[in-house]
Amino acid sequence: MTEGKRRILLTSALPYANGAIHLGHMLEYIQTDIWARFQRAQGHECYFAWADDAHGTPIMLSAQQQGVSPEALIERMNEEHQRDFRDFGLSYDHYSSTHGAANRELVETIFERLQAGGYVEQRTISQYYDEQEGMFLPDRFIRGTCPRCGTADQYGDSCEACGGTYAPTDLHEPRSAVSGTTPVLRESEHFFVRLGAFEERLQAWMNSGTMQPEVVNKMREWFTEGLRDWDITRDAPYFGFRIPGTEDKYFYVWVDAPIGYLGSFREFCDAEGLNFDDWWRPDSETEVYHFIGKDIMYFHTLFWPAMLMGAGFRTPTAVYAHGFLTVDGTKMSKSRGTFIMARTYLDHLEPDCLRYYFGAKLGPGTGDIDLNLDDFVARVNSDLVGKLVNIAARCAGFIQRQFDNRVSDRLPDPELYQRFLDARPDIAADYEGRNYQAAVRKIMQLADEANRYIDEHKPWQLIKQADQAARVQAICTQGINLFRVLVTLLAPTIPFTAARAGAFLGHEVGPWSALDTPLLDTAVRPFEPLMTRIDPRKVEAMIENSRQSLKPAGETDQPALELAEEIGIEDFMKVDLRIARITAAETVAGADKLLRLTLDIGGETRTVFAGIKSAYQPDDLQGRLTVMVANLAPRKMRFGVSEGMVLAAGPGGEDLFILSPDDGAKPGQRVT
Ligand code: MSP
Ligand code: ZN
Repeated sequence: MTEGKRRILLTSALPYANGAIHLGHMLEYIQTDIWARFQRAQGHECYFAWADDAHGTPIMLSAQQQGVSPEALIERMNEEHQRDFRDFGLSYDHYSSTHGAANRELVETIFERLQAGGYVEQRTISQYYDEQEGMFLPDRFIRGTCPRCGTADQYGDSCEACGGTYAPTDLHEPRSAVSGTTPVLRESEHFFVRLGAFEERLQAWMNSGTMQPEVVNKMREWFTEGLRDWDITRDAPYFGFRIPGTEDKYFYVWVDAPIGYLGSFREFCDAEGLNFDDWWRPDSETEVYHFIGKDIMYFHTLFWPAMLMGAGFRTPTAVYAHGFLTVDGTKMSKSRGTFIMARTYLDHLEPDCLRYYFGAKLGPGTGDIDLNLDDFVARVNSDLVGKLVNIAARCAGFIQRQFDNRVSDRLPDPELYQRFLDARPDIAADYEGRNYQAAVRKIMQLADEANRYIDEHKPWQLIKQADQAARVQAICTQGINLFRVLVTLLAPTIPFTAARAGAFLGHEVGPWSALDTPLLDTAVRPFEPLMTRIDPRKVEAMIENSRQSLKPAGETDQPALELAEEIGIEDFMKVDLRIARITAAETVAGADKLLRLTLDIGGETRTVFAGIKSAYQPDDLQGRLTVMVANLAPRKMRFGVSEGMVLAAGPGGEDLFILSPDDGAKPGQRVT
């Protein structure tokens, strides 16, 4: 470990923008977040920047099916994803989209440099083409009979029955999964990256000593098999970045996805005044780590470092792969209700409970992690509630009732306190090595010790003797300080509980070094329960909910319509809808979606910010009519106060309609 203040950049793998976040994703994102929070608590400069992975055929098709533009789809998903992440307490510094301008620029630069370095080759390939849909078919969109074992309805690249892999052209009776028609072979000119040219440098990187043993083993296998050229081209129609100098060729999504790590960090640096090159030049002393699932190792340990090398950037310090989440011992399953979405979890349970459980199970390796639901309830209730929070609860009552919330001016057992402090380096090494389960185990052992201390000193008996009051205060002061150490050490896993503990202590739970000074001769705040026991019925309700909401709804992947709570006509009548004339419309500096509208509702003028810039030029709006919610409470936004809302319909992007024709309706007239 480097001495002094380290400069660290972390990323998690970018979730695809066509689906909701589930607990499998959350395993990785919580793993990353615990590391980020741990590093910051050591006083290091640590950033966590990532993005949505917005490109590719599945996203294009998903948008088509939903009848929206891909841009509208990825924008909505980005918001949804971030809401889930925030509610789970992820402390990322920046979240972007691979579809952003910063990313496009970096993708083009990297491609240019790879070309200039002679790493890119052009070749004609022949690939299955769906004539009805007018598109080349990715392997996963071709189905047919396995050439090895004869099982019908297998993917174009591998068979789920026998595990065999093959080329789509080997499939018997191939069909397009998009149209169902038989595809034909068609030729196209593609760009390839000569991966072999990087072999020596990739080997040196693999042997740098920072890589996970499992990753090194996998890479060795791949080197033995031999590195093949990488096809980075996809033909139109495709949702992605067009390859400069071509009309109808796009970068394969796996080109711009990892570059999205750079794109996101670039945006963050620009906004915060950090020097991007400090982090990404080849001789940089900063550290960069990618947290990923083991399924995407190939992309992160061969393609990605090769692109960086070829384009003159530094390579990651390490790539850390984790295993897969199972629930009750098996793959997450929609019909069993164990394919649990992040939002479904949050609707029923506290984020810290899952964070704690994942922390208690995560190790440094790539083994799968099981969320056993009974064990989950038992662990959280016995460890977090029964052990950790209990320490504070047992002491707080006396301090509050007898001593006016004040802790005494010295610790009765400073050696015990010191022993808790001395556990820090060992626990820090566990966090650093992503061995969270070891860290959690050690912290819980200390929690047992703290509880034992209180058991042995029996403040509830002493308090009955008038001359023992000072002693009770001292014992509780010891207990509260031990609690403070433990909650600080566990804070990276349970940030919400740690924040509530900080409110109780009257001192924010922060850097580990702050523990050097115990809390003495100061007032704590009245104790509020920091965490309550999980009622197993809530877990049952969550599973039931998952099962219901993921009932197979026909063949498509379209999410079930989720309506807000039903309202009656009385509720509807509370919404005061008025015809409004747009008297002025202007762009808003710094906002890329908003227009500032000045609305005349007959004798009254309102300012409303509306997210319709993608669909309208300000000038086109002047003088036209729209419908607004006139009795919406004013809302302070970053750019000013919005005094109402205009109603719009349409799929989004350029197709958003807010206007009624000027048909003689009068501003101010109520719409019923
Ligand atoms: N978009 C790519 C990653 C691009 S990174 C430049 C992708 N997206 S994903 O949504 O399928 O997965 C995102 C991350 O979540 C991956 O690291 C993946 O391994 C992880 N997980 C997805 N399902 C998971 C489980 N069931 N369990 C644990 N991790 C899982 O891959
Ligand atoms: Zn097979």
